[in-house]
Amino acid sequence: MGKFNDTDIIHADLGDERFLGASSVPIFHASTYHQPNPSNPPSYRYSRTNSPTRDTLEKVIAKLEGGTRGFAFSSGVAAIASVFMTFKHGDHIIAPDDIYGGTFSLLTELFVRWGLKSTFVDMTNPANIEKAITKDTVAIYVETPSNPFLCITDLSAVANIAKKHKLTTIIDNTFSSPYLQKPFDYDFDIVIHSATKFLGGHSDVLAGVVVTRDKAIGAQVSNVQVAFGAVLDPNSSWLLLRGIKTLAVRMKQSQLGAQIVAEALSKTQGIKKVYYPGLESHQGYEVHRKQARGAGAVMSFTLDDNIEPTKFFEAIKIPIIAVSLGGVETILSYPCKMSHNTMPADERERRGITERFMRLSIGLEEPADLIADIKDALKASKN
Ligand SMILES: Cc1ncc(COP(=O)(O)O)c(C=O)c1O
Repeated sequence: MGKFNDTDIIHADLGDERFLGASSVPIFHASTYHQPNPSNPPSYRYSRTNSPTRDTLEKVIAKLEGGTRGFAFSSGVAAIASVFMTFKHGDHIIAPDDIYGGTFSLLTELFVRWGLKSTFVDMTNPANIEKAITKDTVAIYVETPSNPFLCITDLSAVANIAKKHKLTTIIDNTFSSPYLQKPFDYDFDIVIHSATKFLGGHSDVLAGVVVTRDKAIGAQVSNVQVAFGAVLDPNSSWLLLRGIKTLAVRMKQSQLGAQIVAEALSKTQGIKKVYYPGLESHQGYEVHRKQARGAGAVMSFTLDDNIEPTKFFEAIKIPIIAVSLGGVETILSYPCKMSHNTMPADERERRGITERFMRLSIGLEEPADLIADIKDALKASKN
């Protein structure tokens, strides 16, 4: 993993350009900019194209990922969709079987109508990726750890396959954030985040980002960003910049808590199985340790058959029960009704996203309090 310095995160936004000496970048609300000589336009002209607050954020996220260009979008799915829009009718993408439900829907319901083809494979075995390559394949899309089973894909193996077949590599790096995993170190081409999650960190901003390294790929994403226009507004850009300042300290603390909670839950009556890359028993534990500097703060688990999920939700007190993850507060999600509710029921069942399957994103609370709360809730929800 490339050099990463927590100090850089704190000072990444201002660099040499302090606006009036301010400690944070101003929120520039202007939608348009004075052009006294339109034949020689200034740097900022119209805020769909670029605006100073968003520009600062885009530079910061590019720096943190170790890329050359950053792009901020109005949501994570807008970022993902904008990357898909760089492809053309007839192109084919290989994506993971275990994948955020919204991305699955984008490919199988939306982009399929414009002729972008996709195949979903179990990427825990890279050989499955190679088998799925067709003459039309243009890209390999990865999520590692994936949503919701935290499956691990070997980034080096994917990059090697991509190189051999001249394919573009894309990763949704949301669960790790650039603090834990730097896909450009593994020669990936495009890094995407739902910045709504760990980058924002406070469950108060909806945003997505894309980072590129290659000049031509950067130009393609830039063209879509301006043409499609799903850009991030100045207020949200500023909120995201503020959230990013505490990325290192939040990731360290919530990951510490997650490890304690995951270990405790894997020995708790009422829980059948815990999925967390920090557990030695987890698929891909060794691969993840090699390519990331921590297991992160998200886990999922299956309840025993004698636990009633509705009662469990009623009994639990500390986490908010909600869509999303990566906040300072612990978030308990119900994938079958939330993140993966748009996935057809048979697809969900086949993957194990059942009524007893939960996802848990650990925040900054005391791990002992969370464990006690979960144990109490389990006791109160026995059939
Ligand atoms: C891994 C992953 N990618 C993308 C998204 C979509 O992001 P957003 O909700 O910001 O559009 C999510 C949302 O949960 C996610 O978990």
